[in-house]
Amino acid sequence: MMNFRTFILGLVASFGLPWLCLIVIPAMKYQQLTPVAYDKEKDGVEGFYPPAPINGQGQLIYIREGCNQCHTQMIRPAQLGLDGWYKGWGQDQEARPTTPARPNELRDYLGEKYALLGIQRVGPDLANFGWRAPEAAKLHVHLFAPRSVHDWSTMPAYTKLYKVQKIQGPSSDRALKLPKKFAVPAGYEVVPTEEADRLVEYLLSLKKDYPVPGQAAAVAAAAAPAKK
Ligand code: HEC
Repeated sequence: MMNFRTFILGLVASFGLPWLCLIVIPAMKYQQLTPVAYDKEKDGVEGFYPPAPINGQGQLIYIREGCNQCHTQMIRPAQLGLDGWYKGWGQDQEARPTTPARPNELRDYLGEKYALLGIQRVGPDLANFGWRAPEAAKLHVHLFAPRSVHDWSTMPAYTKLYKVQKIQGPSSDRALKLPKKFAVPAGYEVVPTEEADRLVEYLLSLKKDYPVPGQAAAVAAAAAPAKK
């Protein structure tokens, strides 16, 4: 009997406790969070943190296509002072950022239905991709044929988000400008579907480094117009 009790206690200690600390308590804390208003005087910004909710439709396509299997959207707190200093990871696109991209906080995900922290970082973190993104047309080319951008890319080609159609009359002004190696047969063109457009809008909106109320460094970075 004694052994059975120890066994149950052991079970609770090894599974119950981590469950409580890693899942239940953080979930309860997260549910209590609400957006915070900026203090115009101190923060130099108006409105709420986090600002507008993200493009939900695009996010659903991102989820459906499993992009979060390979891409995280979370900058970790600096370990040994290294993380966050990668080139172009935040708003600062200089080769040697003067301020590291700030680690993400719980509130950064409040405007989203799902917090896509990601599973593995096979591809680059996309938390602040909007700052370094190319123009939409180039992003479509990347999604249609990742290897046309980097020949070593292991990212799958999302051709099903695009339509290959026969050119009738003048070619569409939305037609992707593909390099020769990835071009479709003569007389055909590739155009983005509605879903591809929503996905690209979503990717371009990823800027999860809004100034945090009361954190002067982040505010200063956002206020500097040269870095916009
Ligand atoms: C099998 C893993 C994998 C999956 C799934 C995947 N990617 Fe990628 N992604 C990569 C890799 C590797 C790179 C880096 C090479 C490159 O640029 O193609 C990358 C690069 C990118 C970039 C450029 C990032 C930068 O910093 O320049 C974007 C944007 C992107 N992926 C979006 C997506 C989207 C959207 C999806 C889902 C529709 C997706 N990825 C699915 C592996 C993946």
